[in-house]
Amino acid sequence: MKKRISIFASGGGSNAQVFFEHFLGNEDIEIVSVFTNNKSAGVIERAKTFNIPVHVYNRTFWSDGEVPITLLKEQQVDYIVLAGFMLLIPEPIVSLYSDKIFNIHPALLPKFGGQGMYGSHVHEAVKSAGEKQSGISIHLVNEEYDKGRIIYQEACQIEPSDSAQDIASKVLKLEHKNYAKVVESYIRKST
Ligand code: GAR
Repeated sequence: MKKRISIFASGGGSNAQVFFEHFLGNEDIEIVSVFTNNKSAGVIERAKTFNIPVHVYNRTFWSDGEVPITLLKEQQVDYIVLAGFMLLIPEPIVSLYSDKIFNIHPALLPKFGGQGMYGSHVHEAVKSAGEKQSGISIHLVNEEYDKGRIIYQEACQIEPSDSAQDIASKVLKLEHKNYAKVVESYIRKST
């Protein structure tokens, strides 16, 4: 049986797009749905291009986890990939999908993680701290923001002249290069 992934995303969806492309025609793993809490998210149009169904829901829908669980079960989802998803995953979903939810964080955890640390906030904090390196952390998701077990990290150098935006571009390249591959390799090792 093919393993079925659902992607949760709140924003532009460039990482989700890489997943759509990476798993297109894959014999063992497929992307079956996208969930978003943002009705203007760029990921919606990207998913339509690949004929992947998108479910748009508000914050209340996510709060106890019961409603999303019903849908995830209906869709027989095996794994969840967070790709720029900004809400905390409710505990019932974390329990049901223990070690089966992935997140990518745009910095080298445990530094620069936690609530409020997302997107440009992360890169601005890295710049302000005068770090010489940033990078990506791919981790499993538990009940706390950015605290689950890290399964992959890769660093990039920061030049003193780099702006927060420059750091963001370097990090996003690493995300696109690695996230789908690391998830695929993890799933293959677990099955
Ligand atoms: C990515 O940089 C991802 O690492 C970050 O949001 C961006 C989404 O970009 N996630 C977080 O900050 C989570 N704390 P995308 O919508 O173009 O994939």
